[in-house]
Amino acid sequence: MKALIAVLPGDGIGPEVVAQGTRLLKAVAERFGHSFELVEAPMGGVAIDLTGAPLPPETLALCQRADAVLLGAVGGPKWDPPAKVRPEQGLLALRKELGLYANLRPVAPFPALHDTSTLKPEVLRGVDLLVVRELTGGIYFGEKRREEDRAFDACVYTVDEVVRVVRDAASLARARRKRLTSVDKANVLETSRLWRAVTERVIREEFPDIELKHMLVDACAMHLIKRPADFDVIVTENMFGDILTDEAAMLSGSIGMLPSASLGANRRGLYEPIHGSAPDIAGRGVANPYGTLLSVAMLLRHSLGLEEEARAVESAVAASLEAGVLTADLVPPGTRPVATQEAGWAVLDRLGGPAR
Ligand code: NAD
Ligand code: IPM
Ligand code: MN
Repeated sequence: MKALIAVLPGDGIGPEVVAQGTRLLKAVAERFGHSFELVEAPMGGVAIDLTGAPLPPETLALCQRADAVLLGAVGGPKWDPPAKVRPEQGLLALRKELGLYANLRPVAPFPALHDTSTLKPEVLRGVDLLVVRELTGGIYFGEKRREEDRAFDACVYTVDEVVRVVRDAASLARARRKRLTSVDKANVLETSRLWRAVTERVIREEFPDIELKHMLVDACAMHLIKRPADFDVIVTENMFGDILTDEAAMLSGSIGMLPSASLGANRRGLYEPIHGSAPDIAGRGVANPYGTLLSVAMLLRHSLGLEEEARAVESAVAASLEAGVLTADLVPPGTRPVATQEAGWAVLDRLGGPAR
């Protein structure tokens, strides 16, 4: 198949991990007989430095034309507040402009990494959960205002915004273990009370086969590390999903392991590891690229419909981890870590060809 893929390396370790992602895409194209056109564009801090804007119109136009977007990460101390124009605004604008309201963040720790986690291996056994994070609403996108001695961030949700993401999450649960946990703060927030009522109705009317549970976000943060294997699909609002997935990443051993897919009404999606630009390790070639490589697998699956290729990538990652190809964030003390590039090569070496 032919596909146009927009590549936005971004800032910090973004370009380092994305370089492994593009190399993998090229290898997949070659081995499986596809033609992927990869076009790179500036977004984030690098775009501010080049053009003054975090999401230049040309970059947005490219993403709108593309079948999928692969992103590294944006941000860094150079553009931190009090700077008025910031890299993160570009990412939020891109998600909004492309209508990517559902952010899928799967957490299925690789057995090879059970001992790497700060959690006990017996807690990690059987963990296979998916967080569906609402991505274009809530407190991230409500009205913001700064006054002399106070500041406002409005948190707003409409019924339609809740309905569409809950439907997507429930459809995903239907293809899995049919259990959905909706996470909110309905004991305090009005938006959460709306969220809970709408979720109840959607599941009752459209997904009677799905078992729905509500959970308060603070309790969810606790249960995620107490009994993570009990979760199947979690659906939650924008900011709760952001915070809970950095926590859940530690089930997989490192924040560098988690991929994500941001999807909307059509097939075009944005794929990025959930981590940030990691300024503390940027430029040293030591970042973990696995989250990006697994994001490539999600891109192949969700935007290009290439399930066999997606699985080949996931198996190659699993095989590399089993072979002990571990970056600095994953190695036990006293063990030599591999560089970003070596991990990328290890996955390419283990990438199978088309099944005959
Ligand atoms: P971060 O995720 O960048 O880093 C947190 C910690 O995890 C750091 O110690 C870092 O070294 C480590 N880490 C992250 N990714 C890693 C990887 N692939 N391999 C090994 N270690 C890794 O979060 P932060 O430090 O809070 O934020 C830094 C910047 O990134 C901020 O400007 C923030 O806004 C931005 N950010 C961007 C995105 C994105 O582009 N999607 C996501 C999160 C944060
Ligand atoms: C993420 C990041 C972003 C978010 C920031 C950089 C805007 O933390 O993708 O998880 O909060 O959504
Ligand atoms: Mn985040």
